[in-house]
Amino acid sequence: MTSQWPQHGGDLHYAQATFGKPPEAWQDLSTGISPWAYPVPPAPESVWQQLPGDLSPLINAAARYYGTEPSQLLAVPGSQYAIQRFPQAVAPGRVAIPEPGYREHAINWQKAGHHIFPYRHKEQLASLIESNAVDHAVVINPNNPTTEITEPALLEKWHHQLPGYLLVDEAFADTQPHLSSIARLPQCPRLFVLRSLGKFFGLAGLRLGFLIGSGKPTDQLRDSLDCWAINHPAIWLGTQALQNTQWQRQQRQRILLLEQQITRLLQQATSDSMAMHSAGLFITLTGNRSALYSLYEAFAQQGIFTRWCYNDQVSNNAWLRIGLPADNGERIAHALQNILQKIPQE
Ligand SMILES: Cc1ncc(COP(=O)(O)O)c(C=O)c1O
Repeated sequence: MTSQWPQHGGDLHYAQATFGKPPEAWQDLSTGISPWAYPVPPAPESVWQQLPGDLSPLINAAARYYGTEPSQLLAVPGSQYAIQRFPQAVAPGRVAIPEPGYREHAINWQKAGHHIFPYRHKEQLASLIESNAVDHAVVINPNNPTTEITEPALLEKWHHQLPGYLLVDEAFADTQPHLSSIARLPQCPRLFVLRSLGKFFGLAGLRLGFLIGSGKPTDQLRDSLDCWAINHPAIWLGTQALQNTQWQRQQRQRILLLEQQITRLLQQATSDSMAMHSAGLFITLTGNRSALYSLYEAFAQQGIFTRWCYNDQVSNNAWLRIGLPADNGERIAHALQNILQKIPQE
């Protein structure tokens, strides 16, 4: 049966084709990338002119930032690189994957010949693990788009119960460092963690991330990387961003303030049929499909593109993910004034 709602929102081309060109430029809040990127100072010519060489400054800076040993870190050209290749380094098995969750995980485990067991929330994952239904598990912490968080102690417990690997995607964990499982690596040999410089540091175009943890999958990924896979500007800028603790503190504070401000604004548009949760870099409304789709559509008609996710097969709920805007919420506030009367409040 085809539904009147799309399963997932697409990109800005999709928005333009579906809703038409807005009078002002699109405000793209569909990504969860910080509105403030790490400021890029003028790069020495050698950074552009010379091939990338020594990775150790980057690895040492990352080890301090993530609180681990350099030997645990593999730099990759974006955590997506590891998402695509990690499943190929694992013998085909049964893997638990969050749905909804960043879809690239399911796509790539499936492509590598694994049998996927989707789970909707951590209680379902716990029962899959406890009933020995799966060999491996992927956890996105906090989850994108649901914002569900999983405590590191629980992840450690699951690691010990699983016969295979536990892959924890912490692409959005920088605003909540206490959520990280990296400190558990010494006692968890089959735990692997993914980190990204694309979200909190706002450097998605730099293509830099890390696979953290050691063992066969890391060795196989290391072998798959060509010798210049991490480009010279990424080594140079990534090292500075990971070392700059003052900027990181400021970034955390302003993200928190903006998130609170946007949450307050969105409270006007929520109804009893919706819940609102934050993952730091994005806010997710969940609940009644029709009320949420009306809000998504009304925002899009005013040039604000948010992320729509509706999985028909799993539940009757939908998710609307809203990233943080660079204008302190001015356009959201204005749009809300215009659309509030039109939203069916259920
Ligand atoms: C949960 C999650 N993990 C990983 C990625 C990949 O990010 P990157 O390859 O830029 O590190 C994304 C991108 O949207 C994501 O949402």
